[in-house]
Amino acid sequence: MSILKHHAKFETNVLLLMVGILVTVVIGGLVEIVPLFTISNTIEKVGGIRPYSPLEQMGRDIYVREGCYLCHSQMIRPFRDEVERYGHYSLAAESMYDHPFQWGSKRTGPDLARVGGKYTNDWHVRHLTNPRDVVPESIMPTYAFLHRPLDYHDIVARMKTLRVVGVPYTDEDIATAKADLEAQASADANTDALLKRYPKASVGKKDRTSDKITEMDALVAYLQVLGTMVDFTTMKPDAIR
Ligand code: HEC
Repeated sequence: MSILKHHAKFETNVLLLMVGILVTVVIGGLVEIVPLFTISNTIEKVGGIRPYSPLEQMGRDIYVREGCYLCHSQMIRPFRDEVERYGHYSLAAESMYDHPFQWGSKRTGPDLARVGGKYTNDWHVRHLTNPRDVVPESIMPTYAFLHRPLDYHDIVARMKTLRVVGVPYTDEDIATAKADLEAQASADANTDALLKRYPKASVGKKDRTSDKITEMDALVAYLQVLGTMVDFTTMKPDAIR
């Protein structure tokens, strides 16, 4: 117990105590941080995860702009009550192309991580236009102004910026961004090339109140892809093996 004999020296000398604390914290920090440098990736790769299509990305930016995250989380926790209500718990890979991520912890409304495919496009448009039309007791605000035309002149700049922070858009993805966006939001466009680049994208006109591509079209295309990229009938995450 020789170390205990010396503790009075540390407790009566502020400088020595500070050096002691520093050494202890540095050791703790190294133990936590150094192992991370030895692994190449902290996110398990999962089949099906792809970057957002240009229209989905515009919709996501509207989601962030309107502050939907203030009432909605996008992370299903691995607890039984959550999994039974919302579906398979969220995987890290599912938000790897989200900048910024939308996990959140505030749930005035339900979690939206797997809302894709849960409702029809018409339901979403009616709900966003006036939530009380489809859910009488809803306290969600109205977003009827999203019927206005979508301003997507800067979609290429947005995708290039996302590429800088690691989203793997190819030169081709960027060159075809405008055409892809317009094809995804039109009633009768050829979407073969689009669906090859962005499998499972929700194609077709969503907002039938306007002939133009509207903000509503983009937001609903985004909502419809949420949580649908991974096929959980074949996927086995490491954690539950
Ligand atoms: C003030 C809080 C609030 C804000 C802000 C808000 N919501 Fe909601 N949202 C709710 C509530 C409460 C519900 C549950 C009642 C209902 O369905 O309307 C809900 C339900 C939903 C649902 C249905 C989810 C389900 O599984 O049934 C969707 C989709 C949705 N919101 C999308 C959005 C989008 C997109 C935005 C941003 C444009 C948004 N919400 C902003 C409170 C909010």
